[in-house]
Amino acid sequence: MSNTSELVQVAKASLYPNYRQPDLVFGHGRGAELFDLDGKRYIDLFAGIAVSTLGHAHPRLVAAISEQAGKLLHLSNYYYNEPNVVLAERLCRLTNMERGFFCSSGTEAIEAMLKLARRHFWANAQQQRVRVIAFNKAFHGRTLGALAATGQPSYQEGFGPLSPTTHVAYGDLDAVKAAMGDDVCAVIVEAVQGEGGVTPAPEGFLQGLRDLTTEAGVLLLGDEVQTGVGRCGTFLGFQSFGVEPDAIALAKGLGGGVPIGAMLCKPFLINALPPGSHGSTFGGSPLASAAANAVLDVMQETDLLKHVSEVGAYLAQQLAGLAEKHPKIAAGARGRGLLQALVLQEGVDARAVVEQLRDKGVLVTVAGGVALRFTPPLNVERALLDEALNVVDEVLGGLS
Ligand SMILES: Cc1ncc(COP(=O)(O)O)c(C=O)c1O
Repeated sequence: MSNTSELVQVAKASLYPNYRQPDLVFGHGRGAELFDLDGKRYIDLFAGIAVSTLGHAHPRLVAAISEQAGKLLHLSNYYYNEPNVVLAERLCRLTNMERGFFCSSGTEAIEAMLKLARRHFWANAQQQRVRVIAFNKAFHGRTLGALAATGQPSYQEGFGPLSPTTHVAYGDLDAVKAAMGDDVCAVIVEAVQGEGGVTPAPEGFLQGLRDLTTEAGVLLLGDEVQTGVGRCGTFLGFQSFGVEPDAIALAKGLGGGVPIGAMLCKPFLINALPPGSHGSTFGGSPLASAAANAVLDVMQETDLLKHVSEVGAYLAQQLAGLAEKHPKIAAGARGRGLLQALVLQEGVDARAVVEQLRDKGVLVTVAGGVALRFTPPLNVERALLDEALNVVDEVLGGLS
């Protein structure tokens, strides 16, 4: 079973049909390029939904994973393992948090953070604080807890009843104030709404949330699953706004492609989840931790955050130029660092544009139903971006 049509046939007959994959099978990648089984080359500007921080087959990541696999792959949390201890200390330093809990995905990190909030108040004799304030168009994951915070009704349909949550408009501090009450335990927010359409927090919004939550005595939870690990040009998306939440969730880019999630919190929260109250068999595995350490090593040694800021600014400028050039198709550009979007005009079928780009060898994703989202590997080179942007220009030109 090695050719595309055979594999696609078997996939359609055996995989659960909850995704919408095209008839394409990828075999390998190199940097920001992917190759399908027929040898066709694609420029990868989606990086597995903002995951492949160092691109594909980065020699440092490959070496770290191989070396760790030969030593110790898995242990569980019954004992410490060195790569995980090292990683925890590094992440606390990078984020100015006090402690880190490890799991294997973004949703699990969010779930841990929501449980942290509830149990913190339960342990402080405020059991009534169970409600969360979240934002319309937010995406926080799909387990029942995280799904309650996700502010997109289409994802929630058919899964209720969900945990008590109030959704308000992203950017609307008055609405947050109005939704506040003594049953609220936390406000959860993304510094840039990724899945919702690549919408950066409006000026002053995150600081306003910081002030409101402090005043109300509730937690500010930062969902850094998509924005974290350098994606916005700072280690955390929140750092680019100069605001510190009480706890954060990381995942996606942290392992450069190896599944890992982390929840980090401030000192006053370190007793909220005592032994036995929460856990994960795979969380903090030596393999995933070694991968994350390799990502952080390369990030530091190559000054990757500076590269993200520079190339991100370039990409933003080029996308804004394309929007000006094709005003009937594109309405504008927005984003932060290498989380950028070209917003399409109402009525333009974003999915069809993504398909046309893919046929011409450029991979991007749709965000919020209205935008082409660009989340390339953080070490993407400008020349490759230029090559891909020429294709975007051509496709938009064909639609105008
Ligand atoms: C902001 C945000 N939070 C949480 C998640 C869920 O992460 P995962 O798919 O790893 O469970 C995502 C995934 O897209 C995300 O973008």
